Amino acid sequence: MADDAVSLYLDLLKRCVCNLIYQDPAVPYLDDESADPLRAEFSLERRLAGKDWPRYAHTMIGVKRLDNVRDLIEDVLRNEVPGDMIETGVWRGGSTIFMRGVLKAYGVSDRSVWLADSFEAYYPAVNDHGVTAKSYTSPGADILEGGPSALPQVFQDKFVLLKEGTSYDEVRESFRRYGLLDDQVKFLRGWFSETLPAAPIEQLALLRMDGDFYDATHVSLTSLYPKLSPGGWAIVDDYGTFSECRQAVHDYLDEMSLQVDIVPIDDEAVYWQKQG
Ligand SMILES: C[S@@+](CC[C@H](N)C(=O)[O-])C[C@H]1O[C@@H](n2cnc3c(N)ncnc32)[C@H](O)[C@@H]1O
Repeated sequence: MADDAVSLYLDLLKRCVCNLIYQDPAVPYLDDESADPLRAEFSLERRLAGKDWPRYAHTMIGVKRLDNVRDLIEDVLRNEVPGDMIETGVWRGGSTIFMRGVLKAYGVSDRSVWLADSFEAYYPAVNDHGVTAKSYTSPGADILEGGPSALPQVFQDKFVLLKEGTSYDEVRESFRRYGLLDDQVKFLRGWFSETLPAAPIEQLALLRMDGDFYDATHVSLTSLYPKLSPGGWAIVDDYGTFSECRQAVHDYLDEMSLQVDIVPIDDEAVYWQKQG
């Protein structure tokens, strides 16, 4: 890593949003069979890989996927690809805080970072908000069907912990604490099916999708991919995690007769470049 001021700031910011500093415990992840269903000890390996649900850290995407965000924003700036950055599905806001930090570090004042989320809960959506049966086809994910109150108690307890820090006011406050809340940070508050189709975004250079399931991914693509500039980048966080997310990507690409070169970041997330 270079030791110029930009790299030092971005490296420190990344360590902060992932909480590599205080190393908080996690809410046990999908494949984590910790004895306590509500607490797993901090694991550096998991936090680097974005394979835990941090108890307090501001992002769950981990270090490797934050490095990908930085690389792609730097590519966009280097190649003057026009447009803003967006993440659909921000949770506690950490990866968007990092995006704003990258723009700040390079003195960029003519691009914004958009945050789209219900800011209602970690739980992704309920059935009367544009979620169809296609949203829950993965083993493990179908347990979500029926809404939060239908979940086994242990999952309800997990979601209470995962909800902490995710409200609109809390995410704004987190941006403020990092010194990064300004008019280049824009919020799309509500269910994607209601906010994304009419979002007042002109052009995007980076489209990061992290809404987990079919409908969230599909509506992100149908609403926002046409606004992505040629040379811009699409990232899908849950492509390897949930088969319904992968299905949404391929349904959209088929519907639009698009061929793209999908590159894995790790075994969960992928990205590709939009061709001209
Ligand atoms: C996996 S979390 C995102 C993690 C985040 N990118 C990070 O950096 O840690 C998924 C987020 O998507 C949001 N979400 C999922 N489906 C949604 C929908 N249909 N409308 C609005 N928000 C949605 C949830 O509220 C949640 O905050």
